[in-house]
Amino acid sequence: TGNSGMEHLIFVINQLQDACASSGTSIRIDLPQIAVVGSQSAGKSSVLENFVGRDFLPRGSGIVTRRPLILQLMNYQTEYAEFGHIRGKKFVNFDEVRREIEVETDRLTGQNKGISNVPITLRVYSPQVLNLTLVDLPGMTKVAVGDQPPDIEQQVRAMIWEFISKDNCLILAVSPANSDLANSDALKLAKEADPSGSRTIGVLTKLDLMDAGTDARDVLENRFLPLRRGYVGVVNRSQKDIDGRKDISSAMAAERKFFLGHPAYRHMAERMGTAHLQRCLNQQLVGHIRDTLPTLRAALQSRLTELEAEHRAFGGLDPDDPNAKAKIMATLINQFIENFTKAIEGFGEVSTKEL
Ligand code: GDP
Ligand code: MG
Ligand code: NA
Repeated sequence: TGNSGMEHLIFVINQLQDACASSGTSIRIDLPQIAVVGSQSAGKSSVLENFVGRDFLPRGSGIVTRRPLILQLMNYQTEYAEFGHIRGKKFVNFDEVRREIEVETDRLTGQNKGISNVPITLRVYSPQVLNLTLVDLPGMTKVAVGDQPPDIEQQVRAMIWEFISKDNCLILAVSPANSDLANSDALKLAKEADPSGSRTIGVLTKLDLMDAGTDARDVLENRFLPLRRGYVGVVNRSQKDIDGRKDISSAMAAERKFFLGHPAYRHMAERMGTAHLQRCLNQQLVGHIRDTLPTLRAALQSRLTELEAEHRAFGGLDPDDPNAKAKIMATLINQFIENFTKAIEGFGEVSTKEL
């Protein structure tokens, strides 16, 4: 498609993100990404799993996501997952992916269910996904459990803030439709970080759990609490569905049926649901990258100059040497700038037809 140049940039940005996460060389550049925020149990993990079509995220009560998870979805013929902290190992079993996330979370946060802002990077290759980078963050909570630090609420907010306060970050604000939207933690925090609402995308979950006779049409038509990028409604699996091991593809079929059959949503069924949300996010991320490229390019260019100066200063390159890492970063940045140039050349072709 005409987006391929831009889509390739998502790929290069993923590589940069990896390099930042794993190298001692910080590049102090904010890369374009989408952060997923919402209160605990809003349905964040469900949305991400639906994109992938697999159960792979830890579940349970309390704060399950305790480190940022940078989830890089890559459209590819075969399906497997790979972690930034275990390069080269291909995971084909998604139960193992979940276990590895749990182990790697505990490794840094210990047993007391605290949180850490050091991200876990997970790349999922799949024919099912569109190229997209999302960051799953801890859910907002009011209560500390067990021997969790008493200021856990503030810690979680601070971590979310670290991501969403950056101009380069799109905010996917997930709120359950069966509780008062005016009190949504996700929307409140998004509003603080993005007062003009230009970076926020609303997601309403649990439409199936609304009281009989009520609906969220006003919100989904962007009339109540409007956002510039609007809202997408979704229906995820219920706890009962999950316990009964309902698979995601039947859940997606049921979701489609829900929208087509609902008198308040039928007329906009094409703009609702997980598949539409995924397409929409892919396009918005591509568009967002395009908009932020000039700034990003300038920032990377100046970081590149610094890295090159570091090399000259230190000389020899042993692979364990931090300078070798700087070299890798420099190579990636160079590649980025090259791809940037290609993407800009393909500008005229950028298609918005799928929007
Ligand atoms: P998270 O804490 O935001 O990651 O939320 P989860 O995705 O883990 O969902 C929390 C609970 O709500 C789980 O039991 C889900 O099955 C349930 N759930 C999430 N979305 C929906 C939905 O759209 N409809 C229904 N009925 N249940 C949902
Ligand atoms: Mg979750
Ligand atoms: Na919320």
